[in-house]
Amino acid sequence: MVRVEKLSFSYVVKGRRFPILNDIDFRLEKNGILCIIGPSGCGKTTLLFNIAGLRAPDTGTVWIDGDEVKAPREKTAVIFQHFGLLPWENVYDNIALGLKIRGASPGEIKKGVESNMEHFDITRLARKYPRHLSGGEKQRVAIARALVLKPDLLLLDEPFSAIDALTREALQEFVLRVWKEWNLTIIHVTHDIEEAVFLGTEIIILGKDGRYNHHYALPREKGEDFRNGPVFHDTTAAVRDRMKRIINESSL
Ligand SMILES: Nc1ncnc2c1ncn2[C@@H]1O[C@H](COP(=O)(O)OP(=O)(O)OP(=O)(O)O)[C@@H](O)[C@H]1O
Ligand SMILES: [Mg+2]
Repeated sequence: MVRVEKLSFSYVVKGRRFPILNDIDFRLEKNGILCIIGPSGCGKTTLLFNIAGLRAPDTGTVWIDGDEVKAPREKTAVIFQHFGLLPWENVYDNIALGLKIRGASPGEIKKGVESNMEHFDITRLARKYPRHLSGGEKQRVAIARALVLKPDLLLLDEPFSAIDALTREALQEFVLRVWKEWNLTIIHVTHDIEEAVFLGTEIIILGKDGRYNHHYALPREKGEDFRNGPVFHDTTAAVRDRMKRIINESSL
């Protein structure tokens, strides 16, 4: 479904080039969940922007379903760091935003927004503004907004970073339910190793030098008690060990 081929990317600031991503190469099968972890500033958000078609690589290619990504794609939805809800719009208008940008008719907008609010049990929040919502409610609104466009690929950029541990676990389970129910392929950026192991069917680690560093494959069906089992503990320990080495190497 997603193929990132030998991708390199730099930001150019005042004529100076800052290399960020370096020869990144991986593929993700349909209905997989790829978790990307790596130290702050290593280029995770930048990689997501390249996959979303919001930034163009210097060299290399992103392919989705066999097509080269050259601009934002209709069936790719992005949930930005800290949800990216517009503070000056209420819940209804936040969810309607993508459909409006796409030029949907007022009837289509009303139908799409209302059915998604019902589906995610947030109809009662329609007139509230993001600052009046709890973390969990914001996440449901952000997901409803992304799914109203009927995507097949969902890109999530640390959507739970500001949320307490218990709510976070409930939200992770919510993402898995949405993933199964909507038949999605997901790329999920996170700092949290446990979260990557719990959600991912695959994990890649990005190093400080913007290089793809290591890859882990995980089972798709993880079962009820996965968090207490040996695969969870062993993979978490292995990823943590690798992350420590990456951080130590980069501070030498
Ligand atoms: N628009 C920009 N122009 C120039 N440099 C940028 C721009 N956006 C990000 N950078 C730099 O590129 C590097 C990678 O940024 P990016 O946001 O992709 O990192 P990240 O891995 O997502 O970090 P975090 O975990 O903190 O969210 C950083 O050094 C950042 O300062
Ligand atoms: Mg980021």
